[in-house]
Amino acid sequence: MDTDRKELIKKAFQAQKKAYAPYSGFEVGAALLAGDGSVYGGCNIENASYGACNCAERTALFRAVYEGKRDFDAIVIVGKPKNADVYDYCPPCGICRQVMAEFCDPEKFEIILAKSEEEYRRYKLKELLPLSFTGKDMEKDH
Ligand code: THU
Repeated sequence: MDTDRKELIKKAFQAQKKAYAPYSGFEVGAALLAGDGSVYGGCNIENASYGACNCAERTALFRAVYEGKRDFDAIVIVGKPKNADVYDYCPPCGICRQVMAEFCDPEKFEIILAKSEEEYRRYKLKELLPLSFTGKDMEKDH
């Protein structure tokens, strides 16, 4: 289990190398584990029109969904300013949490914030996004 998590953390650090963050200088990487064992990396991709920036987590999720995946187990997130020496935990933004809620089971999906392969924290989506709004809330008599 922990070996698996270490592998996933390694992949998040690899993904971070692809970050395109010329405006904030804050480089983020994510590694998303799908239910079938496949892993999708993602990085943040910024834009001169700041509102068009995309976070690492959503890059990973959108790549996976495009590939037909709908079932996910975990995501690792790593991030730091380009010129910083050490990592701090990088929690997902509210928009990314909402996108996770669209596809991931809040009781099971694990969000892992890592500083290194040895130092990380694990959360369930439900902890980070309680009382989330989903498609079910729009159903009659839900
Ligand atoms: N960012 C992410 O990619 N994921 C997060 O969890 C937090 C923020 C990105 C967005 C933007 O490119 C930069 O970090 C600064 O907000």
